[in-house]
Amino acid sequence: MTDSDWRPGLRRRDFLSAVGVAGGAGTLLATMGALGLAPAARADSPFRPPRRSDFSLSGRGTAKVVILGGEIAGLASAYELGKAGYDCTVLEARDRVGGRNFTARGGTVQTDVRGDRQTARFSDDVYMNTGPGRIAQWMVTLDYCRELGVPIEVFTNTNANAFIYNEAAGMREPVRYRTAKADVYGYVSELLAKATDRRALDGELTKADKERLLDFLRDWGALGGKAGNRRYSGTPRRGHAIDPGAGDQAGVPLGPVPSLAKTFADGAGRYFSFEFDYDQAMLMFQPVGGMDRIPLALARAIGGDRIRLGHVVIRITDGPDDVTVVYRDSRGEQRRITADFCIAALPPHVLARIPHNLGADVQNALRAWQVDTAAKIGLEYRSRWWETDHRIYGGITETDLDIGHLWYPSYGFHGSRGLLLNYFYDEDARKYGDLTPGERVRRAVAQGVKIHGENHRTGLTNSFSVAWHLIPHIEGAWAIPPIGTPAYRLLNKPAGRLYFSGDWLSHLTGWQAGSFESARLVVSHLHQRVLAH
Ligand code: PHE
Repeated sequence: MTDSDWRPGLRRRDFLSAVGVAGGAGTLLATMGALGLAPAARADSPFRPPRRSDFSLSGRGTAKVVILGGEIAGLASAYELGKAGYDCTVLEARDRVGGRNFTARGGTVQTDVRGDRQTARFSDDVYMNTGPGRIAQWMVTLDYCRELGVPIEVFTNTNANAFIYNEAAGMREPVRYRTAKADVYGYVSELLAKATDRRALDGELTKADKERLLDFLRDWGALGGKAGNRRYSGTPRRGHAIDPGAGDQAGVPLGPVPSLAKTFADGAGRYFSFEFDYDQAMLMFQPVGGMDRIPLALARAIGGDRIRLGHVVIRITDGPDDVTVVYRDSRGEQRRITADFCIAALPPHVLARIPHNLGADVQNALRAWQVDTAAKIGLEYRSRWWETDHRIYGGITETDLDIGHLWYPSYGFHGSRGLLLNYFYDEDARKYGDLTPGERVRRAVAQGVKIHGENHRTGLTNSFSVAWHLIPHIEGAWAIPPIGTPAYRLLNKPAGRLYFSGDWLSHLTGWQAGSFESARLVVSHLHQRVLAH
């Protein structure tokens, strides 16, 4: 597995691609159908929010709903049900709404499960999205931004001016994406052109096909040489040591061009496929001013009086006529709330620790999700040297270092300060999680210096880090659904009067869109049930 293949639920995707290779598309579709993944198996009716008029027409009353968790799924449930006048109460254990949608600003305080307390000291215009940070255009999250009036701006997910740095592969210095692309595409094109010219593809291609292919390769790979002997030997696409300018300044192309063998030995193309992914492809978007604009707008629409912060659920009891939730309130007092229905929008591993009477099957199912972690380290600098010195305006440098992916800010261009962000998963996240916040920063900076030089160390003013497995009441970055199993099917159904919701019950694990979609599904089912009784 290369790093670029990484994504939540990878194992399942790997399995499906393996089936596709061995059995062809027909087998793949049949397998997907059996797993409940084929398009036909999806109940894909467009979402229709509950309305007040649904009740005035039917003469029935709304219901009282207690919602556990003020993360996106819980807030979206309360928001949608609220449109029809449901009486919703959201119990949130943390002192803020949003859950993993957590934006750190100057003054933000976070204590982790080990008791390490950090206060972000960022300057006024600097913020750090410690959880979600990018939204694809097709995702429902953007519809909520539109509906709630949350302004959005472009998030630069790929930037040809950002770097690739594969230390373990033996790269001695970082290479710009544009350079790596020119070389990798150039050599791949050269090889394919050679194979075509040497008639290796005659079984696959007609003469006309071959000509069209060669035309494409010449253009895509910037191949030179004569027909029959096309070669890649560099291109201005790689970039310049001295940029073109006025008068006699033609520019000096970047050199020398590495050999084909070196290009592949460096793993220069290691991360290219990332930007082809449906959920990661440009353009992507972010809310202006921080990702938490989304939960804050939801909370405003729901009404602050309906959301109880610092309320920790300690027992759930489902009954024939109602459901009762015992909780500890923000003053430490034990209380209970009884409602017609409950939506449990907590992570499965957190829910599994809460005593309930939903049965052993539910309890076992809650344990069937694999909980992965991720971490982010935000480094604020006194100047935006990546813009002035490296001409990098947003985007991501991809490394094989343990700091993983290095995000340049897609906001505040040309401002006085700015924030670089390191983002990495699983083992690396646990490794950094084991360090104190100060040690994390020192280690991350030492790695970053390999890419940017001393800039990466000298102008550093503030930092903040989150290792998601250590954040109280969340304790993970995402939980990977066992799609196609009885456990997944079970928790996608209500347990008595309780419904489960979250990205962990969707095919969009680790995306806010998964939480929104799950909330919509649960709200639709709950509303139909209320209208039917
Ligand atoms: N949505 C998260 C991100 O964009 C987690 C994720 C990563 C999900 C990669 C899918 C693929 O980083």
